[in-house]
Amino acid sequence: MDAAHKKVNGNNESETGDGEKRGRRGSMYLEEETSNKSEVISCIFSIKEEVGALARALRLFEEKGINLTHIESRPSRTNQDQYEFFINVDLSCSQALDDVIDGLRKQISGPVHELSRSKEKDTVPWFPNDIQDLDRFANQILSYGSELDADHPGFTDPVYRMRRKEFADIAYNYRHGQPIPRVEYTEDERITWSKVFQELKTLYPTHACREHNRVFPLLEKYCGYRPDNIPQLEDVSHFLQSCTGFRLRPVAGLLSSRDFLAGLAFRVFHSTQYIRHGSRPTYTPEPDVCHELLGHVPLFADSNFAQFSQEIGLASLGAPDEYIEKLATVYWFTVEFGLCKQGSEIKAYGAGLLSSFGELQYCLTDKPKLQPFDPNKTSLQKYPITEYQPIYFVAESFEDAKEKVRKFAATIPRPFTVRYNPYTQSIEVLDNTKRLRNLADSISSEMGKLCEALQKFQ
Ligand SMILES: [Fe+2]
Repeated sequence: MDAAHKKVNGNNESETGDGEKRGRRGSMYLEEETSNKSEVISCIFSIKEEVGALARALRLFEEKGINLTHIESRPSRTNQDQYEFFINVDLSCSQALDDVIDGLRKQISGPVHELSRSKEKDTVPWFPNDIQDLDRFANQILSYGSELDADHPGFTDPVYRMRRKEFADIAYNYRHGQPIPRVEYTEDERITWSKVFQELKTLYPTHACREHNRVFPLLEKYCGYRPDNIPQLEDVSHFLQSCTGFRLRPVAGLLSSRDFLAGLAFRVFHSTQYIRHGSRPTYTPEPDVCHELLGHVPLFADSNFAQFSQEIGLASLGAPDEYIEKLATVYWFTVEFGLCKQGSEIKAYGAGLLSSFGELQYCLTDKPKLQPFDPNKTSLQKYPITEYQPIYFVAESFEDAKEKVRKFAATIPRPFTVRYNPYTQSIEVLDNTKRLRNLADSISSEMGKLCEALQKFQ
C-alpha cells in the first residue's frame, strides 16, 4: 500500500458557527498528509476533458511558485466527460494554494473540493468517515486480482487468467450503493465449487460452531447454497444485511490491512468473487469465493460475531501502524482461524478453517497447540500463511472475545474514541462535548426504552 495514501489526516471535519458541516464527511477532498518525511496538502479537482485544460490549471500553480510533489488522474466517478486530478503540494505552500484554488474555481468547469486544513502536525492516519469513503481506497490494492504468482495453480492457464481479470474489473468499477454485478459461472467453475461444497458440508455438523450450523441451512434456503450453484454475492449481501447489517463488497485484489479492517467498522466485508483454479479444488493460495461464502458469510449473519468483527474494525480507525499489525494478527487468529468453546467442546469459527477440508479436521486434533484468546498476547503471535497453523486461540464466546477486543482497543494510542452511527452509516469521532452530549442523549433514550420494557415484564 502506498504510504502516501495511508498517512493522511482523516479527522479534519470542521464546523461553522451554526454547527453546519463545512463539507460532508463522506466527500472529504482536502487532506493533510502527515508522513514522517514532510507534510503535504492534497487536493482533488475535476476538469472537463478538453485539450489544454490541464495545462491551464497547472499554469496557475506555476504562477504562484507552487511545486507539485505528486499528481494522479482518473476518470470522474460522477461526470463522464470530466477527469479528476489528485495533487500533493508542500504544506509551506498553504497560503499560495488558497489563491490557486480560487483561480481554479474561476477557470475550470468542474468542482474543486476543499475541506478544513489544520496547520498543526497531526499524526492520526486517514480513515473513512462515511461508508461511501470506502470507494476511495477500494482500488488502492496491493496487487490486482489477475496478477498470479508463478506457483499459483492457474499461473500457466491463459483462460483462467483472463477470467480473473474479468472478476477484478467488476470489483474495480464497483461503487458503494450499486448492486454487485451477477456472474454467470462456467460449468468448470461450478464443478470446482461442487467438490468444495460437498466435502466441507460433511464436516460442518461435527467441526463447525453452532452459529455456523444454525445459519447454513438458511443460506441453502434463501441464497442458493447448493452443490450445483455458486451463490451470487448480491443475494448473499442482501441476506446478511437483513440479519446483522453486514454487507459484501467485491474487491479487485489484496487490500492493505488498514483498509480491509476499516471496512469492518462499517460492517462491510470485502469479498472476492472468483473461484480457485479447477486443477486443485482443495487448495487455494488466496481467498476465493468458496472461502468467503462457506467460511465467512455464515458467521457474519450472527449478531454477536458481527459485533465482534465490527469492534476490530472500529479499533483500527486512526490507529498507528504497529497497532494495525496487532489488530490484523487478532483478526487472523479469530475471524480467520478462531476456535471457540461450546459447552464442553471446542469448535471452529474461523473462515480459514471452515473453508479448508484438511485444516478443519486438523485444528480439532491434538496436534496443534491451543491457547486462550487474549488480544494482548494473541496480537503478538507470529504465524505461517502457507501451512496449517501450529497454534490456535480459543475464545470463551464471541461476546467475551468482543469485550476483550474492546478493552484492547482502549489501549491503542489515539486522541479520540469512535462509534458507528448506523443511521447515517458514518463514524462519529467523540472528541468534543457536543458529540458526547448527543451520545448521552441517545443512550438515555435507549435506557428509557429498556426501563419501560422491563416494567412491562413485571
Ligand atoms: Fe478470509
